[in-house]
Amino acid sequence: MVFRWSSPEARCLLLSLLLLAFWEEGSGQLHYSVPEEAKHGTFVGRIAQDLGLELAELVPRLFRLASKDRGDLLEVNLQNGILFVNSRIDREELCGRSVECSIHLEVIVDRPLQVFHVEVEVKDINDNPPMFSVKEQKLSIPESRLLDSRFPLEGASDADVGENAMLTYKLSPNEFFILDIIKTKDKDKFPVLVLRKLLDREENPQLKLLLTATDGGKPEFTGSVSLLILVLDANDNAPVFDRPVYEVKMYENQANQTLVIWLNASDADEGINKEMMYSFSSLVPPMVRRKFQINERTGEIKVNDAIDFEDSNAYEILVDVTDKGNPPMVGHCTVLVELLDENDNSPEVVVTSLSLPVKEDALVGTVIALISVSDQDSGSNGQVTCSLTPHGPFKLVSTYKNYYSLVLDSVLDRESVSGFELVVTARDGGSPSLWATASVSVEVADVNDNAPAFPQPEYTVFVKENNPPGCHIFTVSAQDADTQENAQVSYSLVERRVGERALSSYVSVHGESGKVYALQPLDHEELELLQFQVSARDAGVPPLGSNVTLLVFVLDENDNAPALLTPPAGSAGGAVTELVPRSVGAGHVVAKVRAVDADSGYNAWLSYELQPTAGGGRSLFRVGLYTGEISTTRALDEADPSRQSLLVLVRDHGEPPLTATATVLVSLTESGQAQKVSSRALAGSAVQEAALVDVNVYLIIAICAVSSLLVLTLLLYTALRCSAPPSEGECGPGKPRLVCSSAVGSWSYSQQRGQRVCSGEGPPKTDLMAFSPSLPPCPVVEVEVEDQSVEGNQSRKVGCYIFIFVFCVVNIFSHRIFSNIYLRIFLFFEYRLYSNVPSNTFVI
Ligand SMILES: *[C@@H]1O[C@H](CO)[C@@H](O)[C@H](O)[C@H]1NC(C)=O
Ligand SMILES: *[C@@H]1O[C@H](CO)[C@@H](O)[C@H](O)[C@H]1NC(C)=O
Repeated sequence: MVFRWSSPEARCLLLSLLLLAFWEEGSGQLHYSVPEEAKHGTFVGRIAQDLGLELAELVPRLFRLASKDRGDLLEVNLQNGILFVNSRIDREELCGRSVECSIHLEVIVDRPLQVFHVEVEVKDINDNPPMFSVKEQKLSIPESRLLDSRFPLEGASDADVGENAMLTYKLSPNEFFILDIIKTKDKDKFPVLVLRKLLDREENPQLKLLLTATDGGKPEFTGSVSLLILVLDANDNAPVFDRPVYEVKMYENQANQTLVIWLNASDADEGINKEMMYSFSSLVPPMVRRKFQINERTGEIKVNDAIDFEDSNAYEILVDVTDKGNPPMVGHCTVLVELLDENDNSPEVVVTSLSLPVKEDALVGTVIALISVSDQDSGSNGQVTCSLTPHGPFKLVSTYKNYYSLVLDSVLDRESVSGFELVVTARDGGSPSLWATASVSVEVADVNDNAPAFPQPEYTVFVKENNPPGCHIFTVSAQDADTQENAQVSYSLVERRVGERALSSYVSVHGESGKVYALQPLDHEELELLQFQVSARDAGVPPLGSNVTLLVFVLDENDNAPALLTPPAGSAGGAVTELVPRSVGAGHVVAKVRAVDADSGYNAWLSYELQPTAGGGRSLFRVGLYTGEISTTRALDEADPSRQSLLVLVRDHGEPPLTATATVLVSLTESGQAQKVSSRALAGSAVQEAALVDVNVYLIIAICAVSSLLVLTLLLYTALRCSAPPSEGECGPGKPRLVCSSAVGSWSYSQQRGQRVCSGEGPPKTDLMAFSPSLPPCPVVEVEVEDQSVEGNQSRKVGCYIFIFVFCVVNIFSHRIFSNIYLRIFLFFEYRLYSNVPSNTFVI
């Protein structure tokens, strides 16, 4: 039989019965105990015996068990009267957290009705583990928390009671926390975490701990909860660079924005504490700040301005990095930028001192300029070599490292090169190399080392006689290769005597212009050749000079009229009286008109004409055109008047011709008288006649020679050129007819009729031009001339006559102009022969 305690009515009944039992029984009450959770049939107590009932009477007396609650949990075996566990007893279910827990039983027997109260205590066993409300507890703890900071934890609960609910806590081993237990008033315990070691988020951003609760039961139960501790960041880490110093090598002249280095700092913190800003340290000088820029955010350092090795070859940049934490933390590093040289600088050449101009007589080795070279680059980029172009008479001599001297290497001559444009090239050793040049203008200063020079050593000048006084006859000009006053040429006459007079009375030379003036009218008859020297001198110190020889030929003009030779006797008023016997036949020479002309050449070549006279004797006489001989044209007869006056016109061949007239009175006599007179007259003039013939012969020879000598001199010239010059013995002073002058080959003037001129270089030659038939001062000379001409050259004379004839015929046709040309050509060649030096001919 099972008593059920479940209904509310039953509970009310149970309560009332309990009160009744206490009231009836007093202390006679049974007490058992049974552990909870005992198995079915577990022995609790011998309830029948303990109540004093016989086993046999149990059934008859309707032994029964009544319980106010949970009556079925225990049962009595009516056979043996033992109380045993009928079903599972859970103390926690029966009594909850109350410490006391028992089951009250009423044992009822009938006949007589008796009620017994039995108390069965349910003993707790540790059947419940400590329990945590959550599986995991999360805690967030800033890493900056100080030591001994406390962090309460949620404790565990245990459904058991007493010892079985007595919890102890344990924390998994760790270095940061220990566990402290706080006991409350109601003897509850709370675990508390206590910080024993500073947290470091950077090291352990989170911790996992295990909190274990153990109850005091036997066997004990445990419960655990995992603790997840999140360490919150604090700005406790400064940003750091991985190296304190970064070394960067880069070439100079990098473009702007070229990356120098990309700095990467790191910050162990997180979040805003990790956000960094890069900047130059305040110690960085403004100059470096200008050259480089740093990207605040990324940490890239870039070139910002021209970086020049020559300005500075290294930069030290202090860089700060700051995080954004509060307070911010700063890290530092140093960037050493080393610049590498590039060959970006040309060498410089400086001519430091110049000693210019250089005199052309400067000695070899004279220092002309000092040159210094430099290059701002370093190493081979800055190593400079110097060269000189063009290779003139100069060289560069290295005096010391980068210093050079420009030195004269060979002699100078201003007249060949008056200046040099030198270029000094400096080249560095870079690749490619750079170079610079400096030009040095070396001016060569003049030294008076050149005498004035005439183009020719000699000049031949032809001047017509009777020139106006002060007439300009020639200009000498000498060139001086020097400059300035060294080339300032002045001219002067080299004074000498000309006959009785000084040369300066004839000519003068203008000192500056070199113009040569004839001071007075020159007279061919007096002076045929004027030879003198003009000296040219420069104004240098000391002066240099040179001489030029002028050969001034005075050309003949027809300025002398023919002059009649007065007969020694029988003349009156210029008239010559001739006695002619009437017996003479035709062709008889009755007289000879003798005239001379002081001029030469054509101007002295006389011709004779008979002028018609009133007497009409013209038909009876005629005059030889060139001989001047008056001869009869026919035999005389009685009819002819006994006195006849003949007018003979003597005319030279000048232009215009000059004339003279001679009056010849012819008296016809009887034969005996005439013979006497005639012979006397002839005897008296024999010598003179011969001379006159000779004069004419010479004249003809002269004119002929003008032409023939052209040919002759050509031949001679060729011969002289081809063969060795003849011996000079012929030009001896012993021969009286030769008038030898100085060795230069000058001419001498002589009033003698026949003149010989001898040159030092050439054979003696007959003067064919300069003869001057004037008054015969000395018969000896005449004879000698005659001898020389007539006897010495008999055969030549014959040929000459033939030539004269031909020439005269030609000459008549070609007239004066041609003959003048011949004459001048002749003069030219003749001059050439004497001087034997090529020259120009100046004909005035
Ligand atoms: C910084 O980081 C950048 C990108 O990762 C890298 O290119 C650079 O070399 C780093 N700088 C240093 C100094 O290591
Ligand atoms: C020029 O001639 C003069 C006089 O004969 C002489 O004294 C002088 O030395 C000469 N000069 C030269 C350069 O020949």
